[in-house]
Amino acid sequence: MILIDGKKAAAELRAELKEEVAELKSKHNKVPGLTVILIGDLTPSQIYVRNKEKSANEVGLKSEVIKYPDSIEEKTVLEKIQELNSDETVSGILVQLPLPKHIDKQKVIEAIDPSKDVDGFHPMNVGNLSSGYESSIPCTPLGCYLLIKKIEPNLSGKKAVVVGRSNLNGKPMTQLLLKENCTVTITHSKTKDLKAECLEADIIVAAVGIPELVRGDWVKKDAIVIDVGINKTDNGIVGDVHFDEVSKNAKALTPVPGGVGPMTIACLLKNTIDCFKRSQI
Ligand code: GUN
Repeated sequence: MILIDGKKAAAELRAELKEEVAELKSKHNKVPGLTVILIGDLTPSQIYVRNKEKSANEVGLKSEVIKYPDSIEEKTVLEKIQELNSDETVSGILVQLPLPKHIDKQKVIEAIDPSKDVDGFHPMNVGNLSSGYESSIPCTPLGCYLLIKKIEPNLSGKKAVVVGRSNLNGKPMTQLLLKENCTVTITHSKTKDLKAECLEADIIVAAVGIPELVRGDWVKKDAIVIDVGINKTDNGIVGDVHFDEVSKNAKALTPVPGGVGPMTIACLLKNTIDCFKRSQI
């Protein structure tokens, strides 16, 4: 069984991106800039944002974090986004989710200029991805996709099962696999026989948020299994896949932690650089 090392893959991607930033700097005399807006003091969000900033600095991006208290008015956030939209030094804008209840998430997402939407959440980018046009691609599914391609460069005709239908993961993951000519089944909490669906799959991406849902006898021999889950349990953090059982069947499997997680941030940096490159044409 191949244990997919997301930490190593992310470090390799960051090294490539660092070189690319240096080349862009010598060509354009400026570097891509990432601005993250963090509202409130949720600990996981603070940790994510700190990691994003650290990684952005590591590859040589210009990085800025704007922090607001929980009580901030929606209007102030929307005005700040408008300001960042017209700031030429800002290539990418990310508003860390979740947001406080009084702020309309969709309004915030739609306020971001689609060409600076490094999350790929703007409806324009969602539409472009589903139409097969160039777009920003949500960072977690992009990270999963890159890990899958490392194991199996030719995905044409493979059967893929995506467990979970979120806008963040399941739906964009499906689009990426479709683009690679996979036959994709999207499953979710109302799927009748999830085990039977998974047993058909050459590739399983589990992004449903249920601890250790995917069991060893759900997985065909030599399937590639990608675990997006991060679930807090009494036994610590576990994924959506039962690691010990599935590792006996799968050809390749991502661990939690150290699988998909590190790739997500590296892909955010990639998206920022890609937004910058598109803006220079
Ligand atoms: N919160 C958890 N994951 C994400 C993400 O990918 N993007 C944003 N903006 N917020 C998040």
